[in-house]
Amino acid sequence: MSTERVATVVGDLIKRINDAIDEHEVTYDEYHAAMNYLIRLGEAGEWPLFLDVFFEHTVERLNQGEGGTIEGPYYVPDAPWLERPYVLPQRDDEKGDVLILSGTVRSTGGRPIPGAVLDMWQADADTYYSNVQEGPPPYNLRGRMTADDNGEFEVRTIVPPSYHLPRGGPMEELLNAAGWHDFRPGHLHFIVSADGYTPLITQLYFEGDRYLDSDVASAVKPELVLSLRKHDSPEEMEERGLKKPFFTTSHEFRLKPQDG
Ligand SMILES: [Fe+2]
Repeated sequence: MSTERVATVVGDLIKRINDAIDEHEVTYDEYHAAMNYLIRLGEAGEWPLFLDVFFEHTVERLNQGEGGTIEGPYYVPDAPWLERPYVLPQRDDEKGDVLILSGTVRSTGGRPIPGAVLDMWQADADTYYSNVQEGPPPYNLRGRMTADDNGEFEVRTIVPPSYHLPRGGPMEELLNAAGWHDFRPGHLHFIVSADGYTPLITQLYFEGDRYLDSDVASAVKPELVLSLRKHDSPEEMEERGLKKPFFTTSHEFRLKPQDG
């Protein structure tokens, strides 16, 4: 970053914080509480969480726009490559409703993108992410797959639960102190990429989730909210080789061609 850019952006940030201090007549006690809080936030390793929850959505909107949303703090690279038919890696007795997501990867102009890569991750039914939280085995509910020659894909996973942010640290302390809830609506995370296109970072949500309108991370967009269709007839379950009812939904990802 150039000196000019740093001076402009950081200078404005400092000015606006000073304006807020002025406007709300912040006391010395409050100033010291804020300083102490920010130190503890760092010591607890919660700066990425804090920044992704409160600020990433604006950076995302400016840089991706429609069809994208925040990445959040729980992406892990090098998830296993999956073989067709795609099933996100999971335990034999993985809890949660079975979900079959199908869809297409297209250019913003509407052309299917054969071989596009979908890197997908989500929380388990107990709300935990593998590799970054205790509980699930490594790379559980994380995987990479490719779209077929028509840009289409289908993957079996579980319906993701809504979850609250990690508790017991400075992040929870702040949300409690402000009287704000700490929930995110259930979601699937994706990074979709293909040669010649800008990678799309996004999430998919589901109609009926009680936190769609009050996501603590402000990351829900209407075009990312899908409806789930329930299948519970014996014929449908047998056709899928499943012993319990399942849900289906679909989505079209649109990638922007890289210019020149
Ligand atoms: Fe998430």
